[in-house]
Amino acid sequence: MRPTLKAHLLFFIMSISFSTSASESINGEKLFQEKCSDCHQQDGNSTDNDIPHIAGFSAILTFDILDQFKSGDRKSIPINPQKVENNPNKAHDNNSKNSIETDMNVIAKSLKTKEIEALSLFLANQTFKPTTQKYDPKLAETGKMIHLDLCENCHVDQGSGKIEDASLLKGQWKQYLQRQFKALSKGERYMPRRMKKRFRKLSEEDKEALIEFYISPMKNKSDKTIPANEST
Ligand code: HEC
Ligand code: HEC
Repeated sequence: MRPTLKAHLLFFIMSISFSTSASESINGEKLFQEKCSDCHQQDGNSTDNDIPHIAGFSAILTFDILDQFKSGDRKSIPINPQKVENNPNKAHDNNSKNSIETDMNVIAKSLKTKEIEALSLFLANQTFKPTTQKYDPKLAETGKMIHLDLCENCHVDQGSGKIEDASLLKGQWKQYLQRQFKALSKGERYMPRRMKKRFRKLSEEDKEALIEFYISPMKNKSDKTIPANEST
């Protein structure tokens, strides 16, 4: 997590553990259905290649990411409004005067801190449902080795494990992942120092193989290698 957020998050974690936080007065689920489900679906598992699954991320990570969108530290890539219009589960009716935002930066800016907390808690209680996608088995095998060597420390259980603050990767949409790999490579997105050190070592081929691994189904979940030396 970003160091600047630590103080606020400490408070947030305390409010989660005592569960008497003011976020209780905001219904995270209701807010999510109103503001987010048009794109991320009702349970945070998106049905569109351009829109990420966000179910099951830890509350702290979701809070951090929404805060980055809100401050503009992370620039979002807006999606084609047509995609929202075509969503059969769309919560907004076509005659609604409230036109739907298509840009995560604008959406996050409209949220108060307490609302971000409530949404983060709601999402943390949902289950990430991996998407089955077409993948290249040979590249995926190579990707798995790279992942176990460099990325498993934080993206545990081959990118499927929920820990405090690393994104779930296994079963995320391919097109979304490709865009994020580009943004991370260009330095357009925050990543922790220890991830940066490892990410820098990756060739274009390595990145392609990692993506094929992340979109492939889970095999042998217990496979692990000795984690790379923490001090490197
Ligand atoms: C118009 C469609 C749309 C709506 C509505 C929307 N999102 Fe998003 N969301 C996206 C897209 C597209 C991205 C990916 C942005 C990018 O690639 O930069 C995204 C990214 C995210 C991410 C980052 C996921 C990751 O893996 O890093 C989070 C968290 C998120 N949205 C939460 C929300 C919440 C909470 C709401 C409601 C307040 C919301 N979104 C409303 C389309 C939407
Ligand atoms: C020190 C822990 C750490 C290590 C090691 C690490 N990551 Fe990450 N990774 C994170 C965190 C934390 C985030 C969320 C960053 C944010 O947006 O705040 C993240 C985000 C990502 C994302 C964006 C996912 C999304 O939903 O948008 C990708 C892709 C990713 N990591 C790939 C990798 C790869 C590939 C490696 C190995 C080369 C790696 N990471 C190693 C901690 C780590």
